[in-house]
Parts: sequence; structure tokens; C-alpha cells
Amino acid sequence: MLCRIDQIPAEEIRTRKKEVVISADEIGGARFLAADVLEGLQRVDPASCALVISSPPYNIGKPYERKDERTYDEYLAWQRRVIETMLPALTENASVCWQVGTYVTDGELFPLDVPFIDIFRSLGFRLRNRIIWRYNFGYNADKRFSGRYETVLWFSRTDTYTFNLDPVRIPQIYPGKRHSASKGKKAGKPSGNPLGKNPSDYWEFSAIEDFRNNPVWDVPNVKANHPEHTEHPCQFPVELAERCVLALSKAGETVLDPFIGTGATAIAAVKHSRHAVGIDRHLPYIEIAEKRVAQFAEGDLPLRPLGKPVRRPQSTERVAQVPLEWRQDHTEFAPVSVGGEDGEG
Ligand SMILES: C[S@@+](CC[C@H](N)C(=O)[O-])C[C@H]1O[C@@H](n2cnc3c(N)ncnc32)[C@H](O)[C@@H]1O
Repeated sequence: MLCRIDQIPAEEIRTRKKEVVISADEIGGARFLAADVLEGLQRVDPASCALVISSPPYNIGKPYERKDERTYDEYLAWQRRVIETMLPALTENASVCWQVGTYVTDGELFPLDVPFIDIFRSLGFRLRNRIIWRYNFGYNADKRFSGRYETVLWFSRTDTYTFNLDPVRIPQIYPGKRHSASKGKKAGKPSGNPLGKNPSDYWEFSAIEDFRNNPVWDVPNVKANHPEHTEHPCQFPVELAERCVLALSKAGETVLDPFIGTGATAIAAVKHSRHAVGIDRHLPYIEIAEKRVAQFAEGDLPLRPLGKPVRRPQSTERVAQVPLEWRQDHTEFAPVSVGGEDGEG
């Protein structure tokens, strides 16, 4: 049975604005701290978090960053301090998934995973995967190729880390493939794993569908046309966090997100019977995160099922057809399907 959030006294949620605890018996519990990251991290219990999943601010002039006005070097020095301050909260064998994109200034690109790999390594972490998260919409550049991916850096503190492959296997493209005659005893037997294949280090989730299903910005003062909906999706899809949670932690453990934003990490954690701790200095985001976890506990939060393939349009669908006027003006266009899921430029 899923415990309902209304078992928590409403006044407890209302009065504890700076620190909100949502708990339930059979799903994990979530604890949210509205605080600056450096202060919030010091309030997390020592050696309590087995996994960190986070997307730090990118220092690219988003509304919540403007007052910081850090240079690139200052930004990296601050991030190093954040990671150092986070260390005491981690268990000995913890993993960290740091999801970053590219800082762009005057048309010049600074892929942030490059300096972050150095920062984590210098603090004793080992890089286990550099995962490409490919998404299907965003800013259409005209002076360079449009950016359509970010990365998730998965680090472990030691060689004794959790890695559960089975819960995150995905369907094979050719499940009917069989071993060839040269494979001895295996010849003729199915060559794949009945649970599916390794999802690899190239992840593709339908971010746009996730955002449609999770209208997190559809609240007063943060509308769907909020400026953060520009260069790249600011919040990552819950599915991305779920894959990390399932593969890199165990039920009952605690997952920390020091920049929780609208709560994807917390939803993924509680959905899979882990506990979540989330920090964000922006109270309205914490309130959205809180509401989404509560909605999840109520069974009211629409989520894309984990591992569902990204939808591609059929060539017969209108969105996949070359527009008639293009065909008339440019005879070189054959009437074939074009574009990705959203027919982006
Ligand atoms: C890239 S967003 C994270 C989005 C999140 N992954 C989600 O799915 O919604 C970065 C978050 O960091 C928060 N933030 C920025 N500076 C902070 C600071 N000094 N302390 C705490 N939170 C901060 C912002 O409010 C923002 O919500």
C-alpha cells in the first residue's frame, strides 16, 4: 500500500517552510532544505548519503544566478567548495552523478564536464562513466551546430561501489538474435539477456514529453514561457534520475541533491523506496519539489514509464512530411520523413 501524504499533519508542512519533511512508510521519505548550498550541506547528517544526483547551476546568467556574477574561474572555485563541503555527508562507498552542460559566452563554448572531471579526481573520486544525455529540443544555433546533449559524470569514491544493472536494462532491438553455430554449447540459443540489454552510456529520454507531462513551471510567477526554457531544459527528466537511483543505490539508502530545483531527484528516490534530501536556496522551487513529491505519493504525478523508448514519428504522420511548399520550391527535396521527435531545426 502506498502511504498517502495527507497522513502528515498539514500544519507540519505549512509551518516548517525552511525545512520540510515528507515521509511515508512504503515509499521513501523526502527532506527539503531551503538554504544556500554551503549552509544546507552542513545540516545533512554525516556519512548518510549513498548517492548524489545533481545538476549544479551553470553560471550562464539564469535568473537565480544573476546576483552571483561569478567569473568562470570563480564559478569553478565555488563548485569545488560545494563538493568539498558535501564530502562529510557521503558514505564511504558513495557515488556521485554530476549532470552538466556547456557554458557559452560570446559564442565560445566551455564544456563543464572537462573541469569537473579534474575537480572530482583531485578529491579522490574515480570516474566510472561519462554519460551523454541526448535531448530532442532546444535553441537552434545559426553560427554553430545546435547543442543537443549534456553529460552526466558518474564518479565513485572507492572501487566498492553499487552497480545494479538488471533494474535498468532496456529492451533489445533484436531480442530474437541467436548465437551462431561456432559458439559451441551456446549455438542456436538466444544471445541476449531476457531482462534486456545494458542501456549504455548514451541516454535518450523524451525531455519534451516529460515537460509536457510534468508542467512544473505552470505555477504563478514561473510560467511555461519562463526564461529558463531557452537554451536547454533546466530540470532534468525524472527518468534520468531514476536510472541513476536504481543502478547506483539500494532501497532504503539516501540520495542527496544539493541543487534540487523542482525535485526530479527526490521523486526518483521516493519512487524506488530510497530517501531523498534536497537543498535549494530558491524557496519557490522547493515548494514545487515538495508538491511534486506529494503528488507522486497521491498517485497524481504523470511520469513517463522508465525505459520507454523515445517516440519517433511514422513517415505517414503529417509532422514527418516535407511541407508541400518546400517540395514545390526545391525539387531536390524528396518526400521523405525528416527531423527528430519534434521536427526541430
Ligand atoms: C540546474 S537547476 C537544478 C534543476 C533540477 N535538477 C531539477 O530537475 O529541477 C540548479 C538549481 O540550483 C539552485 N541554486 C543556485 N545557486 C544555489 C545556491 N547557492 N545554493 C542552493 N541552491 C542554489 C537554483 O535555484 C536551481 O534550482
